[in-house]
Amino acid sequence: MTKIVCKLEYYGYFCENNTSKAVDLMKNIEEYVSLAEKAIKDMALPGNPAGLYEPIRYGMSDGGKRLRPALLLAACEASGKDCGIALNQAVAIEMFHNFTLLHDDVMDNADLRRGKPTVCRQWDDNTAILSGDTMLTLATSLLIKDVSPDKAVRLLEIFNRSAVDVYEGQQYDMEFERRDDVAINEYINMIRLKTSVLLGCAVHIGAVMGEAGEAVCEALHDFAVNLGLAFQLQDDFLDVYGDPAVFGKAIGGDIMNNKKTFLLVNAMSAADGSDKEELRYWLSAPNPFPGEKIAAVTSIYNRLGIDAVCRDSIDKYNSAALDCLERAGLTADATGFFKEFDRMVMSRKK
Ligand code: IPE
Ligand code: IPE
Ligand code: MG
Ligand code: MG
Ligand code: MG
Repeated sequence: MTKIVCKLEYYGYFCENNTSKAVDLMKNIEEYVSLAEKAIKDMALPGNPAGLYEPIRYGMSDGGKRLRPALLLAACEASGKDCGIALNQAVAIEMFHNFTLLHDDVMDNADLRRGKPTVCRQWDDNTAILSGDTMLTLATSLLIKDVSPDKAVRLLEIFNRSAVDVYEGQQYDMEFERRDDVAINEYINMIRLKTSVLLGCAVHIGAVMGEAGEAVCEALHDFAVNLGLAFQLQDDFLDVYGDPAVFGKAIGGDIMNNKKTFLLVNAMSAADGSDKEELRYWLSAPNPFPGEKIAAVTSIYNRLGIDAVCRDSIDKYNSAALDCLERAGLTADATGFFKEFDRMVMSRKK
């Protein structure tokens, strides 16, 4: 008779977290990204059922910027510990992020991600749902692998709170598609939930792994949340004005879905006369030809100067992020690293 082995026992996807040692100098961004990339590549996921694990491998493969695991590893070292102790947590945060992308692409009916067909197009919606669910569960296991019970509870509390925030943000994002009275503060709260808190969660987990004190955890968290707001505003901007060859996602997807992005919310309050009428027409057009609707709404944004309004707001949240960073009281080296990270994110084209 074949022996039935408990599957969890032979899961080989965990990394070997290195033992904790002190670190004096931070690495650069590329080094944190490549450490994260290697840890992700080293995951040995089961082969079967291939219909479950192949989409996970596909979703996790190259092409992502790996911002969240890089932030997590850097926050650990900024707190004084070698980031080798936080590799499982770095993979966990990237796995969670990629789970949200699998589900987000179903919700946003998206064809393209990182320049490739989305999982829901390469396979189907059911696959994206179930492989996504599996990623969420694997992420939770990775998060608490080899940490003390007390720390595991702390990490899970931070992680689960952020995960529920993301779901709340995604719900608002969908509900707002059908509303035409979304206020800017509602929009900001929605993107704080769906996007920013996960960047905050990444640095918070990294800082906890690095044994940072509460004040540092909080200041780094606030830095990342404000950076996350600027980052999502930038994502909205690139969805309209990005270079399709570089952005990796279909330009105009938000316009087609009537997403209440920063651009649309501002355009709705600024437009009057024929612009207002035309915007209303496109928001309720039953089956618009994509090229036509995207071009028409983009022209309205251009006429109203919405691109400049968006850039101003990006700068505002970015300055708030940098203020929080100063408050963290990190070493000059660590502060310099996060400033460089901020510059890199703010100049992104994808
Ligand atoms: C995409 O995040 C989802 C948003 C919050 C806008 P990223 O732009 O970080 O996606 P990848 O992982 O680099 O592809
Ligand atoms: C992403 O918002 C937020 C989450 C995935 C949780 P978007 O829908 O704008 O992200 P992209 O543009 O598809 O990456
Ligand atoms: Mg989307
Ligand atoms: Mg979305
Ligand atoms: Mg987007």
